Amino acid sequence: MSIETTELTKHYGETRAVDGISLTLPDEVRVVVLIGPSGGGKSTLLRLLGSLEAPSSGSITRNGRVLPVTEEGRLEIRRRNGFLFQSFNLFPHLSALENIVLPLVRVHGRSRDEATARAREVVARFGMEDHVTKMPGELSGGQQQRIALARAMAHEPDLLLLDEPTSALDPEKKAEVLDIVAELCEAGQRIILSTHEMGFARACADEAIFLADGRVVESGRGSALFEAPRTEALRAFLGRVMKW
Ligand SMILES: Nc1ncnc2c1ncn2[C@@H]1O[C@H](COP(=O)(O)OP(=O)(O)OP(=O)(O)O)[C@@H](O)[C@H]1O
Ligand SMILES: [Mg+2]
Repeated sequence: MSIETTELTKHYGETRAVDGISLTLPDEVRVVVLIGPSGGGKSTLLRLLGSLEAPSSGSITRNGRVLPVTEEGRLEIRRRNGFLFQSFNLFPHLSALENIVLPLVRVHGRSRDEATARAREVVARFGMEDHVTKMPGELSGGQQQRIALARAMAHEPDLLLLDEPTSALDPEKKAEVLDIVAELCEAGQRIILSTHEMGFARACADEAIFLADGRVVESGRGSALFEAPRTEALRAFLGRVMKW
């Protein structure tokens, strides 16, 4: 699947969260990593790419077809995506397992038995078997993160969008989740993710994009961005985040 954006823009009032971004991501670019300072537009770009929000102007093309911007059209596209939100967004009134089962049944048309089996399979992959009956409020931040990631990938999406998949995790769990994401990458899953984990970004990215003030300041294939930053802005950013 090739993905292109043309002058993609999203503003909220005066804030230009995404400000005229044009990207070309050919099919062989499986893993795209968004990096950059807080408020730079990573989450907004992910929401646009995932058809969760309509752009203010500009367009997104997949396989040469312009994505619809109507609520109904975006809903259809969204179904084929998997999305992990920076703030998890688990349904608070449903158990961990049901959080995964329900979308499989309601959105993806799986039978309840099939959905339950699939949910148990992904939950086991994240080492969360013992927590499936808990409500989100009874799970730690890291456990919620893993349930949310399991939910995002349970229906084997065409495109998986992960907004800081490791933000709430301790170092050990972080490594576990990154291992799973790396496995998905190796299995050929198409992923666009934002992260502050520079080591992981460098190891996994087919294409890395440095965003600041809603614009692409620099982008590059593989680890080029990390090895030879061309702009002072990226050099300064890497200097700050790789200091510790
Ligand atoms: N729903 C919204 N309403 C108003 N402003 C918003 C909204 N969402 C994002 N913004 C603004 O858009 C800009 C980009 O925000 P965004 O969340 O995309 O940044 P980010 O790169 O993901 O930051 P972080 O690293 O902190 O997650 C910020 O100035 C933010 O305040
Ligand atoms: Mg964000």
